[in-house]
Amino acid sequence: MVKKSKTAVADTKADLPTNYPEALRALIPSDSVADAYVDRVIDGLAFHELLDYAAAEGVHVSTIGDTGAGKTMAKQAWCAKRGWAYVNIPCNGALDPDTVFGTTDIIDGETVWSPGTLPLAVEHGFTLIDFDEVNTAPQRVMSVFNSLLDGRGVLTLLGVGGTKTITKHESVVISASWNEDYTGTAPLNEALKDRVCAIAVDWPYLREVEEQVIGFTRENADGTDEWVAATSLLDLAERLRKGYEAGDFRTPISTRKLQRFVFNAIDLGWNFAVTNFVNSFHAEERPQVREFFVKNQHALFTNFGIELVEEEF
Ligand SMILES: Nc1ncnc2c1ncn2[C@@H]1O[C@H](COP(=O)(O)OP(=O)(O)OP(=O)(O)O)[C@@H](O)[C@H]1O
Ligand SMILES: [Mg+2]
Repeated sequence: MVKKSKTAVADTKADLPTNYPEALRALIPSDSVADAYVDRVIDGLAFHELLDYAAAEGVHVSTIGDTGAGKTMAKQAWCAKRGWAYVNIPCNGALDPDTVFGTTDIIDGETVWSPGTLPLAVEHGFTLIDFDEVNTAPQRVMSVFNSLLDGRGVLTLLGVGGTKTITKHESVVISASWNEDYTGTAPLNEALKDRVCAIAVDWPYLREVEEQVIGFTRENADGTDEWVAATSLLDLAERLRKGYEAGDFRTPISTRKLQRFVFNAIDLGWNFAVTNFVNSFHAEERPQVREFFVKNQHALFTNFGIELVEEEF
């Protein structure tokens, strides 16, 4: 078997052509996204290495998994490092055909086409095109994407001004994201799955990543800063997530939600943070979730450095 050499991780930004469309430039994420992002390692390969490989080889990368677990941010952070545009194509009800595909106007009897973000991204490249929530898309919408996703690599749009065929630029990474378990989603159609899953990455919440992004910085007496992972909150989240998997809760516990809890606790106070967290669950689930906080109060307070007081929240 011939083993291909692994593509080196890109650390330089793309030199964009001067005619690169402003609409795409505006979609290049800022460096702060890359700075805040903690990458995950999948069987020894960093996710960003996989994206580098996908960019070099022209293969598609899909991310499948939990909500608010960093799938979108991972791709945005990679784009920020590369200086590429991150083009999100929502495949759910939020898809706005005018923004995505473009518009055709008749001006003085002439048809004038203004391309949307998708044709621009396909033509000009230096783009990661992310088909989001791809399993919620109606079949007729996805069929428009078929020739782009398969080996042909062309986007065909049928419009008032006739058929437009746009060939994919060589610097384009196509990605898709979905979750198989949430309400409103359906199993991904096999033909589509085959097209977008050359590389498919399972994307669960990861303790080692969450310990680096859910927590706070404490200033020690000697003036040094120390990162304190919110391990007690992550323990609690683990139990809630088991409850979710078992069907006890209908509300997922995202990385985003846990991060927000910590910010709220610091900025707005512990009781507010707990109430806000509890309120993000369905009404009938709330007493049980609050009970988790009451039961784990000691561990939480110790971890967060809160003086233990008799009052309950
Ligand atoms: N690896 C990470 N590094 C830093 N922050 C993270 C990471 N993973 C998740 N987060 C935090 O969680 C938030 C939600 O992540 P993101 O929107 O990328 O999730 P998602 O998997 O795309 O969710 P959805 O399924 O709802 O689209 C991020 O904006 C960030 O604040
Ligand atoms: Mg997302």
